[in-house]
Amino acid sequence: YGAVISPTSLTTYLALPHALLSVSTAGEIEWLEHDVPASQLQDVLARHGILSDVDLVEIRKGEFLMPGFVDTHTHAPQVPNIGSGQQHELLDWLAEVTFPMEARFGDVEFARGAYLPIVKRFIDSGTTTCCYYGSLHLDSTKALADIVHASGQRAFVGKCNMNRNSPDYYVEPSAQDSMQATRDLISHIRALPPKHPQRSEKPNAADALVQPVLTPRFAISCTPELLTSLGELAASDRSLAIQTHISENESEVVFTKSLFPPELLRCAPHPIHGSVTYAGVYEAYGLLRENTILAHAVHLEPKEVEIIKRTKAGVSHCPTSNFNLRSGCAKVGMLLDHGIKVGLGTDVSGGFSPSILTAVQHASICSKVVALESSADSSASGTDKFASRQLPVATLLHLATLGGAQVCNLEKRIGSLEPGKAFDALVVSVRSDAGNPGIWGFDLDQDFGLDHVEGDRGRRKTEKKELEAMLERFLFCGDDRNIRRVYVQGRSIGGKEFRA
Ligand code: GUN
Ligand code: FE
Repeated sequence: YGAVISPTSLTTYLALPHALLSVSTAGEIEWLEHDVPASQLQDVLARHGILSDVDLVEIRKGEFLMPGFVDTHTHAPQVPNIGSGQQHELLDWLAEVTFPMEARFGDVEFARGAYLPIVKRFIDSGTTTCCYYGSLHLDSTKALADIVHASGQRAFVGKCNMNRNSPDYYVEPSAQDSMQATRDLISHIRALPPKHPQRSEKPNAADALVQPVLTPRFAISCTPELLTSLGELAASDRSLAIQTHISENESEVVFTKSLFPPELLRCAPHPIHGSVTYAGVYEAYGLLRENTILAHAVHLEPKEVEIIKRTKAGVSHCPTSNFNLRSGCAKVGMLLDHGIKVGLGTDVSGGFSPSILTAVQHASICSKVVALESSADSSASGTDKFASRQLPVATLLHLATLGGAQVCNLEKRIGSLEPGKAFDALVVSVRSDAGNPGIWGFDLDQDFGLDHVEGDRGRRKTEKKELEAMLERFLFCGDDRNIRRVYVQGRSIGGKEFRA
C-alpha cells in the first residue's frame, strides 16, 4: 500500500500516490486499486474478500514501488574488468582486455567464486531480469546458471559460441564442439527445478525463471558452419531465445562484411541476394525473430532497420558501453519511430556500470547528442515522434522496464505492475535515511517549485507531481543505496535491506 509507478506506453506511465496492490502466494499480481485513501484501506481489503491474515507492506513517504529493471545485455565474466582498459575501441579491447579475463573463467572454481558476488551485484542494482553472456566454457556457464537460479533472479543465460577470429587460448576447437556444449547447457538449464509454486498444475517451461539463450558472440567469431547449425537448432525450437551483437563499431562492420561476401550469402540457408548488411548475415542463417536480442545497433543502414522491423527482433541499447568504447550514439528515437522494440543493456564491461540506472542516464545524454546533431542537419524532419528529440522520462522508464520485457519477448509476464503479470518489482527510497547524499530526501518537507492548489483535487495533483519528481530524481541521481527491496515472482531476493 503506497505509491506505485508503472509504465503504460512509450510516452505514458501511471504515478499513483495511494495505490493498493495484491500479490498471490504464487507471486502474481492479482489486482491494483489506483486510489485508496488510508481511511478506506480496511473497506477496500474487505471488498476484495480479505478480512484478516494479510501481509500488508506499507510504502512510506519518500518511497515508491516500480517494476524491476530488465538488463537486456551484459557479460557476467567481464565484471572483474569494470573500469579497466577503456582506452581501446571494440576489436582491440576484446583482444587486449576482454578475452584474457574471460579465459580465466575456464577454471570452474574461479568462476563459481566470482559469479556469486557478480550476480548479487546485478540483483542489488535492481535488475530483476538479466540477459547474461557467460564465457565460452560449458561447466562455468552451468555454474553461472546454477547461481542465478539459486538467487531467484529471472534471467537468460548463454555460453558464447566462438570458433574463429579469437586467440588460441580462448576459442572453441570446432563448430561441432560448440554445438554440443550449447545443447548440453540448454538441457542443464531446462532441468533446473521450478523455484516457485507454479501457476498451473502442469509446469510450463516458459514460466521457468532461468531460460537458456543461444549466444553466437558475433558474426566475426562464428564460422558459416557454426551459424548454420545454430540456425537449425533455433528452427527446431522456436521458444529458444537468441542474443548477439550487431553493428557496434565501424571496423567491426567492415570486418563482418569481408567475412560474409555476397556469393557466400547467396548459398546460405536463407539466401540473401544483393548487397550484404550485418543484419542480413544473421537473417541469412535464420537467427532473427521475435525472441532475438540484438545489442548495440549503432551503425545500422536503412535496409537493416527494415530487416529488424520485419523479423520482430529487439534492440538492446547499451549507451554506457557505446560512449565508453567510442562506438557511437545509437539512433534510438529513429528505431522507436519504426516500431522496433528497444530495451537497455549495461554491456559490462564495455559499460563500466552494472546498474540500469547508469544506462538510463546515458540513454538520456545519447538522445540529447542525437538531437543536437540532427538540429544541425537540415534534412532532419520535424514530424517524427522520437527521432531527433531527447527522450522524455516516460520513455526512459519504458526502455528500462517494459521495453526490455518486449525485447526479451516477456511483455506478457513482466515489465509493468499490471494484474496477471509476475510481481517483479523494486521498493525505491528517495528518503534522507536511504544514505544517498546525491538525493535530497523526499521525506523532508521541501518546495518542489510546484503550485500547491487548494482542495482535494489540488492535493492529488500535487502528490502526483511529487511522485513524478521522485522518479526523475531516482533515475538520474539514484543508485543501489536507494533500492530497499528487490522482488522477483513475489519473492524478496535482494536490495539494501535484504538478509539471506
Ligand atoms: N562484440 C563481441 N564481443 C563483445 C563483447 O564482449 N562486448 C561488446 N561490447 N561487444 C562485443
Ligand atoms: Fe556486449
